[in-house]
Amino acid sequence: MKLWAGRFSKEVDKKTNDFNSSISFDSRMYKEDIEGSIAHATMLGKCGIIFGDESEAIVKGLEGILSDIESGKLEIDPNAEDIHTFIEGELTERLGQTGKRLHTARSRNDQVAVDIRLYLKKETVAVKGQLKELVSVLCNKAEQYSTAVMPGYTHLQRAQPITFGHHLMAYAEMLLRDIDRLDCAYKHMDEMPLGCGALATTTYPIDRTVTASLLGFSGICQNSLDGVSDRDFCMELASALSIVMVHLSRFSEEIIMWCSWEFKFVELDDAFSTGSSIMPQKKNPDIAELVRGKSGRVFGDLMTLLTVMKGIALAYNKDMQEDKEAIFDAIDTVKMCLTAFTPMIETMKVLPDNMRKAAAKGFINATDCADYLVKKGMPFRDAYKATGTLVALCIEKETTLEELPLEEYKKICETFDEGVYDAISLENCVNGRNVIGGPASENVRAQAKRVREYIQTK
Ligand code: ARG
Repeated sequence: MKLWAGRFSKEVDKKTNDFNSSISFDSRMYKEDIEGSIAHATMLGKCGIIFGDESEAIVKGLEGILSDIESGKLEIDPNAEDIHTFIEGELTERLGQTGKRLHTARSRNDQVAVDIRLYLKKETVAVKGQLKELVSVLCNKAEQYSTAVMPGYTHLQRAQPITFGHHLMAYAEMLLRDIDRLDCAYKHMDEMPLGCGALATTTYPIDRTVTASLLGFSGICQNSLDGVSDRDFCMELASALSIVMVHLSRFSEEIIMWCSWEFKFVELDDAFSTGSSIMPQKKNPDIAELVRGKSGRVFGDLMTLLTVMKGIALAYNKDMQEDKEAIFDAIDTVKMCLTAFTPMIETMKVLPDNMRKAAAKGFINATDCADYLVKKGMPFRDAYKATGTLVALCIEKETTLEELPLEEYKKICETFDEGVYDAISLENCVNGRNVIGGPASENVRAQAKRVREYIQTK
């Protein structure tokens, strides 16, 4: 039986019914739907809109439905139109006439809006928790490898020496911004739409502050048209999640490179790698590749939401039912990715000797060699040119700046003395960069400590 039975003389066409229905994807909000209804019924009783005993019976009935769904005693009917209809129908089956009073001063439009906010608030907190966990893993690893010298890259060309800890902490910074963006989306979903009704509130003397406080909302939607048709928080969340995936995909890409024989900077634990069906030597970073690949789904979800919401006239329109699959998929995907990604990082074996070897090739101390001349009074452009000539000479002689004899240095520029070897030692190059934000080991350790303390407060 449909909710609108009085006005209609026919049942909805079977195939159209399936098309119209959202139960297959909104039933996961059963708990939030019941929470919302309990708050609404309580408020109706308090405000004298229904009798106190009716309100109590409805609340008890809803609690019974919740525990029966959770214990598996009550199965959600896949033929119901949506979760709201199913629960109200079940309540009426259990309570008779009293059940029919629940929907007084309410519409499914404000009901669905409150349900999805309640659901996403919890999920946002869950993703935030997972991000904090990854940040803390990164802080630990960064501390552990704060002295591991590796080449830093630009254009994927060896550029200047950094530490592995510094590299990891770059990802920690990105994730901290992700956490901020989630907080911002949370703030916007923390306003309560219940009481907006279908679009124009109600003439019943409801008290929205009661429902808001029962449901734990910090604020109340201040315009009923906006309250029922605002899905900004879905777009914001999907956008924050998309950026999370950008970060995870960049990190994944580096893990994939670092696992290759060409780099061999890290080795993934067997539990987070896969083999090949044909090539016995293979150990593949499938998890990192999948995370990189799944970014596409989340970006797609964001695009779906933006496109669904674009151009919808106020207020509620059925288009908006399309919000759920997209935002649920984005949330599920990010949670799944983080569930696999964090332990993969935690258990990966770092190979600092290989990083150090790679750092010794590729003249990543050339800038420091030029700076050494500058510190002796030469203008930077001249120092740059002299060092360039030295690098060309080293390439020709198949040697490095560290190994080039002093007389060769002097042939190119008289200013060089023994001190140059100290100035271009990779450890000194790294540890000399101890300005705020630099790769020096002590900086990395201090930053890891600061970040670890900061996330406790988030
Ligand atoms: N299943 C609907 C949704 O998810 C509930 C709201 C229905 N409201 C309506 N006027 N048809 O959006």
